[in-house]
Amino acid sequence: MGMGEDFVSEDYLPVHRPVLLAECLNYLSPAGEAYAHEALMIDCTLGEGGHSEAFLTKYTDLRIIGLDADPEIQARAKVRLAAFGSRVTFHTGWFNDFLANYFSGNYPPPNLILFDLGVSVYHYELSGRGFSFSADENLDMRLNPLSEATAAGLVNRLPETELADVIFRFADEQYSRRIARAITERRKSAAIRTAAELAEIVYQAVPAVYRHGGIHPATRTFQALRIAVNAELARLFPALQSAFEILSPGGKLGVISFHSLEDRVVKNYFRSLCRDCVCPPGEPICICGRKRVAEGLAKKSVTAGEAEVRANPPSRSARLRVVRKLENENAARKRFASIK
Ligand SMILES: C[S@@+](CC[C@H](N)C(=O)[O-])C[C@H]1O[C@@H](n2cnc3c(N)ncnc32)[C@H](O)[C@@H]1O
Repeated sequence: MGMGEDFVSEDYLPVHRPVLLAECLNYLSPAGEAYAHEALMIDCTLGEGGHSEAFLTKYTDLRIIGLDADPEIQARAKVRLAAFGSRVTFHTGWFNDFLANYFSGNYPPPNLILFDLGVSVYHYELSGRGFSFSADENLDMRLNPLSEATAAGLVNRLPETELADVIFRFADEQYSRRIARAITERRKSAAIRTAAELAEIVYQAVPAVYRHGGIHPATRTFQALRIAVNAELARLFPALQSAFEILSPGGKLGVISFHSLEDRVVKNYFRSLCRDCVCPPGEPICICGRKRVAEGLAKKSVTAGEAEVRANPPSRSARLRVVRKLENENAARKRFASIK
């Protein structure tokens, strides 16, 4: 399938099951909040629309702006969410770009923002873009057709040390150097074109004992290339900052991440929002005067229970973190008076 808004049959079946769905619906609930009746949510990673569909069904006044970098998967979400009519607005593009320019779109501040990071089962199983090492597909891995870099471009053109760094930095692959060496050796004779070819090169490059572990030995290499092609980590921090900035006072921001690199960015940023003082540890009294701007809604990160992991294995590594933006004192007082 080529990338674009290809025809999507009205009775297609979604292949991706939304993770931590009940937890998202609870932690990011507009119910009981001051904004409940005109709540606006941004689903920054709409995918096939699984989370959005559940939010629109459960919270019947909610409106959603659904973003995705990938027009092809968004075409599926459009079909799935058609019944909700004008309650959903779609936008194709990178979430960091959209959020940084949010107010130029004349939208009001959102009350709820959800990120469900990474790629969808759709990408692995149906996109035909080489995300999965078991498929004989072109090594593309771009979420957005406008991106220049492809996975084939990286494996065929990056110098060996840079390739090893990518594989190590974005996936903690202990055999990154061996793998990069094998790739650069192979490409001397012919360009590496397909996902299956790359998987075989990695398989041959690693020690035999690594081939019989719990995961395919190319899993980490494929994760690293996907993150590099789509600049996933580089986009995350600026997107979180913009998301918190545009969020309405009292609004909630939730992020589901799938690996420790992403989760560290989310955890550290949320911690900084929820902390009063950021003076260096040796300071006898606070000189920064900083006041926290958010509260954490879950004590730690929320993970999937056994039953969900059994029913939906990709949920195994999911972690949800949620913060609420504090209202300033005047707004909180007004709200309290109106409740009384
Ligand atoms: C895990 S899937 C979301 C699944 C969705 N919650 C559902 O229930 O169907 C992540 C989606 O985010 C999109 N995505 C990843 N990074 C993005 C970014 N920086 N900007 C916009 N979309 C992105 C991917 O194309 C993918 O469709």
